[in-house]
Amino acid sequence: MDEKYFTTRASFRHFSDKMIPESLLEKIIEKAMKAPTCGNMQLYSVIVTQDKTRKQQLAKEHFNQPAAVNAPVILTICADFNRFSRWCAINGANPGYDNFHSFIVALTDAVIFAQQITTIAEMEGLGTCYLGTVNYNAQNISSMLGLPELVVPVASLAIGYPEGPKEETERLPLEAVLHYEQYREDSDDDIENLFKIKTDFPANKEYVAANNAPTLAHIFTDIRYTKDMNEKVSESFKRLLSEKSFS
Ligand SMILES: Cc1cc2nc3c(=O)[nH]c(=O)nc-3n(C[C@H](O)[C@H](O)[C@H](O)COP(=O)(O)O)c2cc1C
Repeated sequence: MDEKYFTTRASFRHFSDKMIPESLLEKIIEKAMKAPTCGNMQLYSVIVTQDKTRKQQLAKEHFNQPAAVNAPVILTICADFNRFSRWCAINGANPGYDNFHSFIVALTDAVIFAQQITTIAEMEGLGTCYLGTVNYNAQNISSMLGLPELVVPVASLAIGYPEGPKEETERLPLEAVLHYEQYREDSDDDIENLFKIKTDFPANKEYVAANNAPTLAHIFTDIRYTKDMNEKVSESFKRLLSEKSFS
């Protein structure tokens, strides 16, 4: 076990032009398929986009953010109850997976699978970056990738051979996330102290100054993840779930 990997890993947003050999990609994905999965149903699929023109179109759906544009490959990981439901039906069994609970189960499976791909790929020397924008244009991405009923994109990964230095990131201290026996709600002062590591982090300070923001918190609420945008994405994602028979 490479302990150092876990303490030093970081996302990459810049990649060399070198393509990932298909044999390596398939080895990573096959290994990731040993991740835990609900009822061993394997409620996920992954779509590899590596054709240059298609990758360009897909990057556009990710707002041409650097990781999407620079990576030679984008993986779209989908919550998938289609294959399993069809197998049930073929066998004369009645699948009851066209509901929101089943979406949550498949989403959980798919995200665990995505993270397993990430860990294995990074341990193989590749660089990865999640693209949270998969939710924003899920409808277009779904059409582009030809996703059928009961298949919804839930995670995207830009992946390739990393280029440039690792960008160091900070994390909250252990006590922020660790609770014994019962949830401990911290005082306002304690919360401020827990986040000090973030407010003092040089890259975050620069971000605040460059945007003339009152605090780092405002960067999140007013610029990166606004209420208005969250509500719009929620509505369009709910529509997609309904179209794909998950609600
Ligand atoms: C669900 C999720 C969505 C993310 N979306 C993006 C994204 O759209 N663009 C990006 O550059 N990084 C994205 N990331 C990467 C995070 O920004 C990154 O993991 C975080 O800043 C911590 O940095 P590190 O992974 O280098 O430690 C995402 C990560 C996750 C888990």
